[in-house]
Amino acid sequence: EQDILNQLPLKNKRVLITAGPTYEAIDPVRFIGNHSSGKMGFEIAKAAANMGAQVTLISGPTQQKVNHALVHVVPVVSAQEMYDAAHTYFDACDIAILSAAVADYKPKDVATQKIKKKSSTLSIDLVKTKDILASLGAIKSKQFLVGFALETENELENAKGKLKKKNLDLIVLNSLQDKGAGFKSETNKVTFIAKDNTITAFDLKLKSEVAVDLINDIIKKIDA
Ligand code: CTP
Ligand code: CA
Repeated sequence: EQDILNQLPLKNKRVLITAGPTYEAIDPVRFIGNHSSGKMGFEIAKAAANMGAQVTLISGPTQQKVNHALVHVVPVVSAQEMYDAAHTYFDACDIAILSAAVADYKPKDVATQKIKKKSSTLSIDLVKTKDILASLGAIKSKQFLVGFALETENELENAKGKLKKKNLDLIVLNSLQDKGAGFKSETNKVTFIAKDNTITAFDLKLKSEVAVDLINDIIKKIDA
């Protein structure tokens, strides 16, 4: 039995994954968030662990559960917390897959008291969050770095742009074109774009199946 475990392709590899949304506080009771379920990232964590990897799954607030001896969940709330956790674990990892739907903007100031209902309109100044994926791309050494791209127009071009700009080895283009793909669904329609510009398009399938396709593709590429 031990021999079989030792033969798994990701045995002794450390995999870092980000998943889910981030919540950016407005005041003590309110936040800016998004509809990410975290499903894709949790499925990737399971697929990697099933191949023998030691997985650190940094997750924003989700309903997802994982019960796998090789998956260690690090819960976070905000983009800044996810950034800090990702940088804590990145150095020791061999593969990093950033699937989280990180907020691009956060409130410039967080009100210390609950904002009271007064004027008929309310404006909140927002500032950019740090780009976790780009920051890891800028410091990576041996790591195989994977990002996601959620696009609604010029899909391939935009995804290729992110691959290059963020110094990735692979980007997973998430197509929102098809019904049944995206945040709330059990399925995704993805295209893998590798650093060498190799493009692999997949049919609409379960997120669990997309996760296995992704892990298998990474195994092929790191072995090559
Ligand atoms: N990402 C990240 N940190 C951020 C924003 C995005 O790590 N602050 C990562 C996501 O996890 C994903 C990739 O960057 O792997 C691309 O995210 P996406 O939202 O598609 O692209 P952005 O670079 O944020 O650009 P835009 O939203 O303007 O298309
Ligand atoms: Ca974004």
